[in-house]
Amino acid sequence: SMMREISGINEMEEQLKKILNLQEVVIVAGDSDETPWVKGELGRACAIRMKEHLDGKNIIAVTGGTTMATVADMLTTDFAEKEIVFVPARGGIGEDVKNQANTICAKMAENTGSQHRVLYVPDQVSKEVYESIVKEPMIKEVLSLIKNANMVLHGIGEAYTMAKRRKTKEEDMEKITGGHAVGEAFGYYFNEAGEIVHKVPTIGLQLKDLPNVQNVFAVAGGASKAKAIKAFMNATTKSTVLITDEGAAKEILNL
Ligand code: BG6
Repeated sequence: SMMREISGINEMEEQLKKILNLQEVVIVAGDSDETPWVKGELGRACAIRMKEHLDGKNIIAVTGGTTMATVADMLTTDFAEKEIVFVPARGGIGEDVKNQANTICAKMAENTGSQHRVLYVPDQVSKEVYESIVKEPMIKEVLSLIKNANMVLHGIGEAYTMAKRRKTKEEDMEKITGGHAVGEAFGYYFNEAGEIVHKVPTIGLQLKDLPNVQNVFAVAGGASKAKAIKAFMNATTKSTVLITDEGAAKEILNL
């Protein structure tokens, strides 16, 4: 649109694609760190892209976080024309209930008139308990849905913010800070080069599964996430569609 041309957003999208080595970048106006409703615009932009890429039957794997929660708010009943099941991307990795992937999937299903599944895995269990949990038929079903997802929606967090929010234990905290982690996604913590310095062990989607997923949407904005976004894009697949805001975009271009 005219507005986007005047404000230089289209050009910024082209610059970000080059810098981050991505095929598609979408930037919404504003900075969600400073203006809360900008996060809603991230959600809306994600909803529009999702709709364009739906198949007849869809399995959509989703992570937690406040950004994903706003994506859920923006999904509407016109998605119901397609068959969709929402599944959490990974097992519990320490979030408040309202920001958990399970909760967000339920909301997405409710807003679109679709189905969802939950994945309840305790945060800390012994190897024996873990091995018997993953043999449970209900868990196995969800895990196989996750492995066959044709769409993944995920947030990206600033490493230290996420580690604190998850009440990470001291020895893991040392790995995160000692490893100079700047970004986090799916429970993996990355340094600026995109190397994994720590990983929250849980079942479900693993980073190495992403290149096999048809549509991956990373939704993250705010200048405070600039380093995190850049680090994660060094680690992930080129086909990821990044949906971000002007605040993050400007800061990434200044790094
Ligand atoms: C968490 C995800 O729930 O949300 C993380 O597990 C992600 O991988 C984070 O980084 C993002 O949170 P927010 O609130 O900044 O969107």
